[in-house]
Amino acid sequence: MDCNKRPESMERITTKELANAFIDEQVELVRKQVGDKKVLLALSGGVDSSVVAALLIKAIGKQLVCVHVNHGLMRKGESQGVIDMFQGELDANLIYVDATDRFLDLLAGVSEPEKKRKIIGKEFIEVFADEARKLEGVSFLAQGTIYPDILESIKAAEGKKAVKSHHNVGGLPEDLKFELVEPIKLLFKDEVRVVGEALGLPHAMVYRQPFPGPGLGVRCLGAITRDRLHALREADAILREEFDNNGLAGKVWQYFIAVPDIKSVGVKDESRYEGWPAIIRAVNTTDAMTATIEEIPYEILHKITYRITHEVEGINRVLLDLTPKPIGTIEWE
Ligand code: XMP
Repeated sequence: MDCNKRPESMERITTKELANAFIDEQVELVRKQVGDKKVLLALSGGVDSSVVAALLIKAIGKQLVCVHVNHGLMRKGESQGVIDMFQGELDANLIYVDATDRFLDLLAGVSEPEKKRKIIGKEFIEVFADEARKLEGVSFLAQGTIYPDILESIKAAEGKKAVKSHHNVGGLPEDLKFELVEPIKLLFKDEVRVVGEALGLPHAMVYRQPFPGPGLGVRCLGAITRDRLHALREADAILREEFDNNGLAGKVWQYFIAVPDIKSVGVKDESRYEGWPAIIRAVNTTDAMTATIEEIPYEILHKITYRITHEVEGINRVLLDLTPKPIGTIEWE
């Protein structure tokens, strides 16, 4: 039997009962597979890696070693949230690596989007491999692979061209040979969320909007600088707060700020004030292959504009991106 093929008889996990049955089955399978060995997991804080972490903590407790790499391109408060949840609440064995300088130094002056993506993806693997080499007795690598990833790689193997190089932990160096543990690889995203909630993860974590592997790196457009990255992170936090406060968070699939590398002239305290524009992107989609624009009430847009231009140093305009996918991709880079 091809273990990467979802059996036709497999029932769609839509309820807590079905999720619990799946969890019990996977807990048994994982214990059988890994015995008393250690398992390593790159925990980004995204839905898939978080659900795998919670599942493996249930199955093997401290035999799971989670590594959270902060590439310096996380959203505001995000790494702290991962630490609070997994180290604080779930008592996980978690290694936190602040690799901000490694990433930002490598990215300095690089403006070409695919080059940026490649640098971030490659460096991520290197930082993770460096941590893995420091550990002893680890034989397994857990991954948050889900069924669409498998379908996607089949498509790639058939020679269909990808629009962007997506980043995932894969392709570790030769000296690091691990056996894979992929407990959710036959699940679709909606099922992963049901399983996550059954494992006790908070609703907000399980239903959080997707965040690209290269993080804010593909939203700080062109060559990344620390000051513009900081402005982007602050503006994005305001956008998310206002979407939360105004009931939009559950309605819009993905929303974020992008900040291009251009400045315009503004005026502040009766003086010339040059700043970057913050671009709001808010889209709805079912599969991320196409996307439509969500209409945001003007009243809320005015409030967001006021707050961003008054609270974020360096931003003097707010723009709204009305482009569907296609023709625009969801991310700008
Ligand atoms: P695009 O920009 O291609 O994005 O329309 C489609 C969806 O994928 C997300 N995205 C990524 N997700 N690694 C990921 O895991 C990546 O490198 C990556 N790049 C884009 C994007 O946020 C959107 O939800």
